[in-house]
Amino acid sequence: MTNFGDVTLSAKNEVLESNSIESLEKIKVKYFGKNGLINKEMKKLSSLDTEGKKTIGKKLNLFKREFSELILERKNFFRKKEIENKINAEFSDPTMPTRKNILNSGRVHPITQTIEEIVSILGSMGLQYVEGPDVEDDFHNFTALNIPENHPARQMHDTFYISSKEDKKNVLRTHTSPVQIRCLKDSNLPIKIFAPGRTYRCDSDITHTPMFHQVEGLIVDKDISFSNLKWFITRFCKIFFNKKDLKLRFRPSFFPFTEPSAEVDINCFRKNNKIYLGEGNDWMEILGCGMVHPNVFRACNLGNKKTSGFAFGVGIERLCMLKYGMPDLRDFFDNDLRWLNHYGFSFFNYPDLNWE
Ligand code: DAH
Repeated sequence: MTNFGDVTLSAKNEVLESNSIESLEKIKVKYFGKNGLINKEMKKLSSLDTEGKKTIGKKLNLFKREFSELILERKNFFRKKEIENKINAEFSDPTMPTRKNILNSGRVHPITQTIEEIVSILGSMGLQYVEGPDVEDDFHNFTALNIPENHPARQMHDTFYISSKEDKKNVLRTHTSPVQIRCLKDSNLPIKIFAPGRTYRCDSDITHTPMFHQVEGLIVDKDISFSNLKWFITRFCKIFFNKKDLKLRFRPSFFPFTEPSAEVDINCFRKNNKIYLGEGNDWMEILGCGMVHPNVFRACNLGNKKTSGFAFGVGIERLCMLKYGMPDLRDFFDNDLRWLNHYGFSFFNYPDLNWE
């Protein structure tokens, strides 16, 4: 018969001398496996008398328990060691000062910074960030926005057309307004969204680049009024330009997808080729807006009489130039490091916005 004292001792030694979780597994199989020692001893039990079964059975159980505990202990020891090694290998000191050249190289592009500021303001005012595709079809970019074929407004847009095999014409979106259509068709009321992104027009001079950025806003619910629009735009502009006393003028205008439509001017003061915003009695146009035209609702199967809403569209480069004083639009896309270093933002900078 097996001497349990010896077995226990050698098993314990094997466990203590093991040097990895894998070797522990092998030892476990050796003793507890199907052809392991314990199983063999168990099979022998049947040939013993009752007394023998009792004493040997007890010893076997005790060995089993002690051995399992020992293995578990050793396993935990290896696990702990593994974690310790990992921590030591990956150690970094968060109190170390950053290297100077890292801080100084690389700048956040002013467009990115401006979009982040807009996201921060409109997000905090309860609007959801959405995106639409840069390649749009004729329906979303024009028809559904109440700009039917042969409408003069299509000429104003200097569209880049994209050849497509299908019948429907694809375009590079000329404005972010088609995102309005995508949201109106897909969502339930209330809709409160804004959509910043790239827009394209076949136009290039001092004040136009073929690619530029806009942000679209759309609020639709029941009984939304023009005064809601005025309040919203006023609050947005005051926070964006960080001027509590900024004056706004809503000037009647025309956009096919809004009725009534308005262009918004903010007050400014011009001296020596410089513009001072929020001061003086001059005006500077900054965005277009209006109440969503019933034809737009109809195109999106939202003909309900009570449904109403407002929309606005802003040129991001323009906002950025006015806020941070860049004189020329074309510099935005020249990738001139001197310009980027001068006008760019540190990536540790966060939007400095006044919410009062
Ligand atoms: N989509 C217009 C443009 O590109 C801007 C605009 C004006 C958007 C009025 C609107 C709006 O949502 O209500 O010139």
